[in-house]
Amino acid sequence: MKTQQLLLAVALACLFTTAQANEAPRLVAKDGRHALLVDGKPFLILGAQAHNSSNYPAGLGPVWAAAKDLRANTVLMPVAWEQVEPEEGKFDFSFVDLLVKQAREQNKRLIILWFATWKNTSAQYTPAWVKLDTKRFPANLDREGKPNYSLSPFGAETLKHDKRAFVAFMTHLKKIDEKQRTVLMVQVQNEVGTYGLVRDFGKDAQAAFEQPVPAAVLARKKPVAAASGTWREVYGDYADEYFHAWAIARYINDIAVAGRAVYDLPMYVNNALRDPLEQPPKPWKSNFASGGPTHDVIDIYKAAAPAIDIVGPDIYNVESAQVNANLRLFQRPDNALWVPEMGTKPGYARFVYAILGRGAIGVSPFGTDYFNYSNHPLGTLATDKTLVEPFERVYRMFAPIQRQWAQWAFEGRTQGIAEGDDRQPQQLDFPGWTAKLTYRLGRFGEPSWGGEFAKPAPGTEEPGGGAALAQIGPDQFILIGHRVRVRMEPAAGTGGMMLRAEEGEFDAQGRWQMRRVWNGDQVDYGLNLPAEPVMLRITMGRPR
Ligand code: DGJ
Repeated sequence: MKTQQLLLAVALACLFTTAQANEAPRLVAKDGRHALLVDGKPFLILGAQAHNSSNYPAGLGPVWAAAKDLRANTVLMPVAWEQVEPEEGKFDFSFVDLLVKQAREQNKRLIILWFATWKNTSAQYTPAWVKLDTKRFPANLDREGKPNYSLSPFGAETLKHDKRAFVAFMTHLKKIDEKQRTVLMVQVQNEVGTYGLVRDFGKDAQAAFEQPVPAAVLARKKPVAAASGTWREVYGDYADEYFHAWAIARYINDIAVAGRAVYDLPMYVNNALRDPLEQPPKPWKSNFASGGPTHDVIDIYKAAAPAIDIVGPDIYNVESAQVNANLRLFQRPDNALWVPEMGTKPGYARFVYAILGRGAIGVSPFGTDYFNYSNHPLGTLATDKTLVEPFERVYRMFAPIQRQWAQWAFEGRTQGIAEGDDRQPQQLDFPGWTAKLTYRLGRFGEPSWGGEFAKPAPGTEEPGGGAALAQIGPDQFILIGHRVRVRMEPAAGTGGMMLRAEEGEFDAQGRWQMRRVWNGDQVDYGLNLPAEPVMLRITMGRPR
């Protein structure tokens, strides 16, 4: 190669490397799967969400301590409109500066939650000058014209000012973080919608309600009554709640578009769930926050808020049928699975296997923060290390291979499952091979032997097991899990056997380090994963 050519090649290589390192986080999709690319590679969010009032300098210490114990790689932290614009037009981002600085010192990434017009549907995080000026910043009105507690998505001034504050925030973030990319994503508002009222009945809202349904909505959300026309004509009994979802989504989109125009980070919304088992979903009867991004209106959000990448479920019902239904409903080719909140009761921890096994971009229990506060009964009562322990047990297995796992998940190689409340056996089918999972068994023997062998193993009183597998080659698997018996078998109608199960781990260079081979008692009754999780590399084979 001539010197000139060589120099050009070196220059191009440098350019490429720099571009990758400085590349903004972004979401990509392939074959219906998703990845969050950070520094150009799939990233697995092992999140820790702070409590609602930890967004002050004094609140940060207990958050970092919990995130460290949890082995989280990302902290989710609110930044509130009331905090950054306490006086109209005067912005103060000193907390954001401190947060980003400390996150870097702690070697954590951040996801920032923009608490503004709506936080759990209410206006509690708006500045006082917004709260007090009910004329400029109007509430939703009921049918009688009486104001509801929550702000109207038709408040033009509310939108204008929320947007202005958000743009100021994103501009600041770009200034301080464009080089290092500590902040990965931004959540726009928090659990939006309205309780107790299906939609705004104010003048502007009513006028919009009587307009034809926008084509973008019609194209995504299947009409119920007529192919086109007003909201009522097209969506019948669902018209009010669909309209409210559209109005809120459009409002959020306007804010997200403006924010992304100055600093283009992935943006998402979270959802206070409606019952996922009510199928088909019935019209709203005060049983959930109307207008929020519930699973049945994801299409409306996609149509009205294209600047929002993801609608994420906040999981606070630990029943396995509920959790599994929600994961199914929110994981779609047009919606990456991302669980931004989950209760911290120990029973939730096993679902991390299911969530990450299904190929989610990440998960975050809520309130993993040693602030002396507990949101019991949604979360655990603990505010010390015992709060994070059940989750750490699972995070600890994924943390060392987080990038690798995200890559495998993006390639469609992974599956995962949590023990069901029914404690029944389960099965995961991979190309060529099947994993059969059973629970509550000891590590030796078969229940059919009777006596003590037939009794549930001590410590399995509550459902707590789970496993995730990655098929890393046609006949090779990585298995991570705890409190589960796994039998690897040939797919129905084929022959084959498990040849070898190595217990071990991946080193910092991603090389497999074997600790021992499981054989004899350790495999005669399946692979019995203990209460503390283990990682196995399993090789299968077929007789020639
Ligand atoms: C869901 C909300 O998104 C969180 O901010 C918090 O209020 C929890 N509910 C309850 O602790």
